[in-house]
Amino acid sequence: MEVVLRNFFQALAKNTTANQMAKKYGLRFGASRFVAGITIDEAVKSVNILNRDGRVATLDHLGEFISTREEALESTRMCIETLEAIADSGIKSNLSLKMTSLGLDIDKQLCVDNMVQILECARRYNNFVRIDMEDYAHCEVSIDIYRELRKSFDNVGIVLQAYLYRTEQDVAELNQCNANLRLVKGAYKESSKVAFPDKKDVDENYKKLISQHLENGNYTAVATHDEAIIQYVKDEARQKGYGRDQFEFQMLYGIAEDLQKRLVKEGYKVRVYVPYGRDWFGYNMRRLAERPANVWFVLKNFFK
Ligand code: FDA
Repeated sequence: MEVVLRNFFQALAKNTTANQMAKKYGLRFGASRFVAGITIDEAVKSVNILNRDGRVATLDHLGEFISTREEALESTRMCIETLEAIADSGIKSNLSLKMTSLGLDIDKQLCVDNMVQILECARRYNNFVRIDMEDYAHCEVSIDIYRELRKSFDNVGIVLQAYLYRTEQDVAELNQCNANLRLVKGAYKESSKVAFPDKKDVDENYKKLISQHLENGNYTAVATHDEAIIQYVKDEARQKGYGRDQFEFQMLYGIAEDLQKRLVKEGYKVRVYVPYGRDWFGYNMRRLAERPANVWFVLKNFFK
């Protein structure tokens, strides 16, 4: 049953019609648990609350299924507006974005030009931008663009996914540019030709990649709610003497709040991924796919 629900939500997340319809409405079906609001003001308010107890954030203006140059430029403008709002409000947050929202599927150069504009803006504000990793079809091109951008910018990082067989090699290669990596398990439905089908293999690979990147002396954002992995990172850091300025834990808005606060109290850096915007549907469906038990939460809200 769980597998059926997971596949169902992963398919819904990619459904263009459902995503377009959802855009017309405000947050529905309990989406406000995972999405901080529709407007930047609402998002800033949510980050302020996180900052109060010591958590920092990464804001993401949600935007998927971009099919025109105008939409890509609008998305770029929203990223810049987000960086300006961070600077104006004084909240502690950087920016996360998806390269498809900047036009990657329309024209690679358009996406690169938009990235450059955003990174220049971030540099003016002394801020940092993280490139989220999308499905396998976008992996290689995202890494290639990242490598090029890294030659001119030191305020950019990328995400790599532990479920992909290729990632160990990617971590080794990106060591050459001292990449700042967010390591995750991976949220998309991928074929067993490219990704470990068994969760226990993903978890083992995840630990291996974290150790590899830390050992190379690079900054590592460990983005998971998995307490066993978090314990593994704490143990590694203690045994091998990695400073707490070499890594941080990251979690998603609305998930494992107690754990987030506990880690802050223990003196670890915790960054919360805070998505906002009208394009909430696909993001929300991926969160349901990760934990179909959340569906009961959605149904409760549906009937409210
Ligand atoms: P796992 O799935 O093993 O879950 C561990 C425990 O966490 C579960 O037992 C459950 O209790 C809790 N949990 C996990 N997901 C939950 C949910 N949705 N609702 C409630 N509880 C939940 N992926 C990607 O492909 N590209 C990306 O760029 C990113 N970016 C990213 C940023 C940040 C900050 C995070 C935390 C995650 C991502 N991800 C991502 C998503 C990631 O790949 C993965 O799908 C989720 O983090 C869920 O996996 P866990 O590591 O939490 O482990």
